[in-house]
Amino acid sequence: MTIKTQTSNRQFRLKTRPVERVSSDNFEFVDEPLPKLGKDEVLIRNIFLSLDPTNRIWMSDMEQYMPPVQIGEVMRGLGIGRVEESNNERFTKGDFVSGLLGWQDYFVANEEAAAGLMVLPQIPGVPVEVFSGAAGMTGLTAFYGLFEVGKAKEKETLVVSAAAGAVGSIVGQLGKLIGMRVVGIAGGEEKCKWLLDDLGFDAAVDYKRPDWKERLIEATPNGVDVNFENVGGKIMEAVFNRMNLYSRMVLCGMISGYNEQDDSKSRISLTRALMQRITIQGFIVLDYHKKNVEATKQLATWIAEGKIKHRETIVEGLENAPMTLNKLFDGGNVGKLLIKISEP
Ligand SMILES: NC(=O)c1ccc[n+]([C@@H]2O[C@H](COP(=O)([O-])OP(=O)(O)OC[C@H]3O[C@@H](n4cnc5c(N)ncnc54)[C@H](OP(=O)(O)O)[C@@H]3O)[C@@H](O)[C@H]2O)c1
Repeated sequence: MTIKTQTSNRQFRLKTRPVERVSSDNFEFVDEPLPKLGKDEVLIRNIFLSLDPTNRIWMSDMEQYMPPVQIGEVMRGLGIGRVEESNNERFTKGDFVSGLLGWQDYFVANEEAAAGLMVLPQIPGVPVEVFSGAAGMTGLTAFYGLFEVGKAKEKETLVVSAAAGAVGSIVGQLGKLIGMRVVGIAGGEEKCKWLLDDLGFDAAVDYKRPDWKERLIEATPNGVDVNFENVGGKIMEAVFNRMNLYSRMVLCGMISGYNEQDDSKSRISLTRALMQRITIQGFIVLDYHKKNVEATKQLATWIAEGKIKHRETIVEGLENAPMTLNKLFDGGNVGKLLIKISEP
């Protein structure tokens, strides 16, 4: 890993929009001088960069929930960093912060950008990188999606897809915390074993096996009350066909279509939604941002108490960000996928 001095800043700038998978050729990797800090500005050294499926969406110009990253702009990305210098009274040198720090070594936050940063609480037993995952954006997605959107209740059956990933692994554990029957869908025997043996899921379905649909039926003898949908396509279709009267589908993500920007393979019957009175709700974690401080504390407390387990897949070196993003689409990560840029 290259150690950077505080005089220059390596940055990934979007050069072309990927057509399918992301490649290094879609970016220019530049080295820019660091500007002098102005009034109310903060200099942050980036430590962990969060790689998220939505990065792929931001690189495209499809209709989306935030403006797409423009050609020539520094690639947008969430991360954890440390304050190195501050002209802003909200921040002190040494604070750990999270926010949209970008695919770069340093982030110079002006007053407006600084307002969007969160100073991280220091909680014994919760390492800083966890605020990028289980106690960060993906944990919050699981929390709001399951409770606010899914209205999950004790004794109900929950199915979650991409279950061994950052969001899915927390969704399932939250379901267990409130006494649900939890079924995870994931790719491969090892991931399924982790869900069952370490995270306490009731059943795990390996969608790479030819008989996965029958396994899903076996694992949901009483149907499905909450479908936490992360994948779309055939997986969504199979779970949808198990959904009960008055059940809820939390439409969190449809990763199976992001590289093609195509959701035409996700076919569900709206007639079935009508007959079963199924609620289908799309949501974005940002919708609940006002509850972030409280929800982050709750998640971090459960983690510190050992009630929620977390796992990270960490790849060293900012230079590896573009190619590492593809791991999300190949199933090459367990838990939260991070790039380590510098030492905490
Ligand atoms: N709505 C929101 O605010 C919000 C916020 C965060 C994330 N999300 C969504 O939540 C989902 C999960 O995100 P994450 O950050 O937690 O990623 P993740 O689950 O850690 O990583 C993605 C996982 O998806 C699975 N996958 C990829 N392509 C697949 C395919 N074609 N079929 C089946 N499984 C596939 C892979 O696991 P396997 O090995 O099991 O295939 C991969 O590990 C994504 O759809 C994302 O867009 C939404």
